[in-house]
This record gives sequence, structure tokens and C-alpha cells, in this order.
Amino acid sequence: MNRRSWTDIAVPAGLLGLGVIPVGFSAAIITWSVTGAIPADHPRLAETPLPFAAHAIGGLLFGLLGPVQFAPRMRERWPGFHRASGRVFVGAGLLLAISGLWLLALYPASATWPLQSGRLLMSAALLGCLPLAVRAACGRDIQSHRDWMIRGYAIGIAAGTQALVLFPYFLFIGEPKGLWSDLVLLSGWVINLAVAECAIRRAAPRRATALMAAG
Ligand code: HEM
Repeated sequence: MNRRSWTDIAVPAGLLGLGVIPVGFSAAIITWSVTGAIPADHPRLAETPLPFAAHAIGGLLFGLLGPVQFAPRMRERWPGFHRASGRVFVGAGLLLAISGLWLLALYPASATWPLQSGRLLMSAALLGCLPLAVRAACGRDIQSHRDWMIRGYAIGIAAGTQALVLFPYFLFIGEPKGLWSDLVLLSGWVINLAVAECAIRRAAPRRATALMAAG
């Protein structure tokens, strides 16, 4: 297997793996909301199922479709599918961000202020990145489309990174509660945005070479 076909599979598979916990939890929330069988340890969900269900639907589609959008071979072989699935992905991301803001407005004190501020900022950033990515695609500026999509995806799927960074906290310190565990959660966004910017910068010299060869 050459390097190209290996990364074609490894990147989407890795991204799918990253989202498995929040996607699984989103599927559970949708099922509980539809059946009405909400567990007793989720009182907020029982109180306001609509914003949670909207957030879970957005999260589920975002977490499942995002990795597929990053498979280069899929984009090349089935561009029509990439565009159709991309529209659903963007809709899901916007729903995710708007319902995230809705939850923040309903439960402003459900976490410490640094985490709530981070959530507010990241929802707003997602609401900015996705339309910028769409605008770039409509203007055939594919590089800029790719960069904004990477940023938007990194912001949304930080829910998966947060689950990963919180696991050692839970293991060594205990139940995640209070400022320190909220700072650990915030680090999920910092990690993802750092990785996103590295990926964008790594691609820049390759782009310049390709442009020079073409021109
Ligand atoms: C910009 C990115 C995101 C923001 C700002 C955000 C914001 C929020 C907020 C404010 C809550 C309510 C927390 C509470 O009740 O204290 C929440 C819960 C939740 N989010 Fe997100 N979220 C984001 C991304 C995602 C993604 C991508 C997924 C799924 C793939 C997801 C799945 C969930 C789930 C399942 C819950 C319920 C958690 C629980 O009941 O404990 N979120 N999110």
C-alpha cells in the first residue's frame, strides 16, 4: 500500500475514532429523547429535551460526515457526493453551534466561567468558519475552503479530544468537577486548533510548489 492510499484510510478512520464518544453519546440522547426513556441522572435533558436533541442531531451528523469529507479519494471520485454531504455537514455544524449557544443561555452556570466563555467563543467561531468555507468553495478558492473547513471541523470535534483528555483526569484525580477539570476540557480546543494550524501550514509549501509547476 503506497503512502497516499494509507493516509486516505488512516486520516478519516482516525477522525472517526476521535469522535466516537461524543457521537455515541449523541446517538443515546436522540434515542432517549425519542422514546422518552431519559435516565434519572440526566435531569437537564428531561427538563429541556429540544435543545439537547438538536445539539445531538447536529453532533451526530457532524461527527459522522466530517471524516468522510477529509478522504481525498472520495472527493476526487465522487465530487457530487462530497458537495451533497458537505451541505449536510455545514447544516449540522450550524445546528451544533446554535444549539450549543441555546444550551449556554439555558444553563449559564452549568460550568465555571472559563469553560462557558470558551464554549461561547467556540460556537461563534464555528458559526464564522463554516460560512467562510462555503463562500470560498462557491468562489472556487479551494485552498481557502480547505483551511476554513479544517478549522471548523477542529473546533466542533474538540468534543472528542475533550473526552480523551478528561479520561486521565478521571483516572488519576477523580470525578471531573470544578475549575481544573473545566480547564482540561478547554485544552481540547487548544490542542485541536494547534493541530489544525499545523496541518494548514504543512500544506502551504506543497501548494506553492504545485502552483509554480502549473504556472
Ligand atoms: C463548538 C463546539 C461545541 C460546543 C460549543 C458545545 C457546547 C455544548 C454545551 C454548552 C453543552 C451543554 C453542557 C451542559 O449541560 O453543561 C453540550 C453538551 C453536549 N454536547 Fe456539545 N458542544 C460542541 C460540540 C459538540 C459535538 C461535535 C458533539 C458530538 C459529536 C457534541 C455533543 C454533545 C453532547 C452529547 C452533549 C450532552 C452532554 C451531557 O449531557 O453531559 N457537542 N455541548
